[in-house]
Amino acid sequence: MSNNPFIRICNLHQRFGNQEVLRGVNLDIFRGETMVLLGKSGGGKSVLMKHLPLLLRPTQGEIFMDGIDITKLRERELAQVRHKVGMMFQNGALFDSLTLFENIAFPLREDRSLNEKTIRERVSEALANVSLADHGKKFPSEISGGMRKRVALARAVVDLPDCIIYDEPHAGLDPITGADIDELMKNLQREKGITNLVITHEIRSAFRIADRIVFMHEGKIYWQGTTAALQATTDPLMRNFIEGNPSE
Ligand SMILES: Nc1ncnc2c1ncn2[C@@H]1O[C@H](COP(=O)(O)OP(=O)(O)O)[C@@H](O)[C@H]1O
Ligand SMILES: [Mg+2]
Repeated sequence: MSNNPFIRICNLHQRFGNQEVLRGVNLDIFRGETMVLLGKSGGGKSVLMKHLPLLLRPTQGEIFMDGIDITKLRERELAQVRHKVGMMFQNGALFDSLTLFENIAFPLREDRSLNEKTIRERVSEALANVSLADHGKKFPSEISGGMRKRVALARAVVDLPDCIIYDEPHAGLDPITGADIDELMKNLQREKGITNLVITHEIRSAFRIADRIVFMHEGKIYWQGTTAALQATTDPLMRNFIEGNPSE
């Protein structure tokens, strides 16, 4: 096994107007791990993760994916990168006029080389992966919030990515439904070797699913380590965060 990271983020900067959101992020991500990204709301977690499929381009810095600096790629060379990185957006971003089946098939239909039989097989498997095998004919308006998240997860996984970014997958879910999502994410890691990158505020979920926890503060990575290391840390900022004390 190699120690080369799957993704290496080097000195990443991003600004909007005169607001410096990322101020030199350095981070390695390893193949097959579940990494949980924590930090204050508005601190730049979503902005950081949107750089991986290059939905945003950095103002400075590099991102190496399998050793290639993806920030130097041209727009038409990015399809390969976007194919490696799936994204589950916060609100699910489902099309209301399409059935669940067609919502999940959507990313596959953009790839003209796939025939209908392959598409049907892949979508059926993705639906089964999220325990929605019998619900493909329903519309988004007919299902619960927890089910919508699962459909969004199925859509992120149907394209067989190496890595999935989950942006606040627990938001708006009750603890039990949130735990179901945790289990689905861990199953994808275990059974398909998918690298999970999870942004969340649910500290209990973080402890349950993370192989490694990363904490962002003031536009940089402030702390990283295992759940055991987080439990044991005496760093005041980290203790405040995990104990839920209001920060200054
Ligand atoms: N496309 C954008 N244009 C301008 N400002 C943005 C954009 N995206 C995010 N921001 C700002 O960047 C900061 C970090 O946002 P975000 O990454 O969403 O925080 P969070 O850690 O809660 O995910 C916020 O102040 C947000 O308003
Ligand atoms: Mg966010």
